[in-house]
Amino acid sequence: MSNLSLALCIFLGIVFVSYAEDTKIGIYELRRGQFQIKLSNYGATIMSLIVPDKNGKLADIVLGYDSVDSYKNDTVYFGALVGRVANRIGGAHFTLDGKTYHLPANDGNNTLHGGFKGFGDVVWNVASYKMDSHITFTYVSSDQQQGFPGKLEAAVTYMFYQTNKLIVKMEAKPFDKATPVNLAQHTYWNLRGHDSGDILSHNIQLFASQITPVNGELIPTGEIKPVKGTPYDFLEPKEIGSQIHGLPDGYDINYVVDKNTVSSHFNKVAVVKDSVSGRKMELWSNQPGVQFYTSNMLKDVKGKNGVTYHQYAALCLETQGFPDSVNHPNFPSQIVNPGQIYKHFMVYRFTAQ
Ligand SMILES: *[C@@H]1O[C@H](CO)[C@@H](O)[C@H](O)[C@H]1NC(C)=O
Ligand SMILES: *[C@@H]1O[C@H](CO)[C@@H](O)[C@H](O)[C@H]1NC(C)=O
Repeated sequence: MSNLSLALCIFLGIVFVSYAEDTKIGIYELRRGQFQIKLSNYGATIMSLIVPDKNGKLADIVLGYDSVDSYKNDTVYFGALVGRVANRIGGAHFTLDGKTYHLPANDGNNTLHGGFKGFGDVVWNVASYKMDSHITFTYVSSDQQQGFPGKLEAAVTYMFYQTNKLIVKMEAKPFDKATPVNLAQHTYWNLRGHDSGDILSHNIQLFASQITPVNGELIPTGEIKPVKGTPYDFLEPKEIGSQIHGLPDGYDINYVVDKNTVSSHFNKVAVVKDSVSGRKMELWSNQPGVQFYTSNMLKDVKGKNGVTYHQYAALCLETQGFPDSVNHPNFPSQIVNPGQIYKHFMVYRFTAQ
């Protein structure tokens, strides 16, 4: 994987750029060979990704909507870049340096994906864009926005590398106060095509020996438990549907990614395959966790080209820190101090055979 390391070196530079406020919402396209991705600065969202199958036939493999306007009504986070703190914060509060912060409870008693108006629901600035290589979005979150402490500047870059790799680089820099930061890319994948039905026959391997179990409100109990011999065990590749029936709704759980270091920065997180199209997606990241979600709560969502999406129509692999880390001292800390920079990398590789 030395070429991955190289991509990283190119990419380690800081992209924070001063910019003028521009709230125009647009759609931006990146192209490499047959690969094409459409993004919007609304939510720094991936709207579509078109890739070839084993016969060279193209399909859009991410769920979403036709118009940017529809993303403003979205309640399932299709393709969005979520934050300031992705995933759930139990009881919608946390304590940092002796001060308790109260957040919006937008998911029962808890805060989900940054609150009512998280990073997936705001207009990002387009700091840099080149159709044949990359786009960088930036966003400044103010002190106390959705209850979080301190001003924070966030940046996300999407970039094609060597045609079939998509790199996502997320960064965030607090100005004057320590704050939790946990950004995540929330794309819903269906490798057979966004309109092809469910992903239960997709094959998945997750390089993760443990999960962080949750209570009935999907808040971690604080335990870290082995997956071996449970329906969560995907250490060897298996069909997603093969053991889903042992679970109440499907998969919606944080896996602890094993240290299988391919470089000093990366672990291999997952391999997903669809035997019908032959498409394969591999994922690497520098994050300690990955939320595996099988779109359990998707119900009659009107998507692209008149398609209605149902439960299990896609899977999400949201690399990130562990959920509710701010309330679990035994989980890796998500606190970023002034002077520090949060960095989150994802590398996807798409092939077909
Ligand atoms: C968004 O929701 C509003 C209010 O329900 C509705 O009027 C509007 O048509 C919706 N927009 C789209 C693009 O679906
Ligand atoms: C919120 O918490 C209260 C008190 O613990 C509990 O009774 C209630 O069921 C919770 N609400 C949801 C939506 O889980």
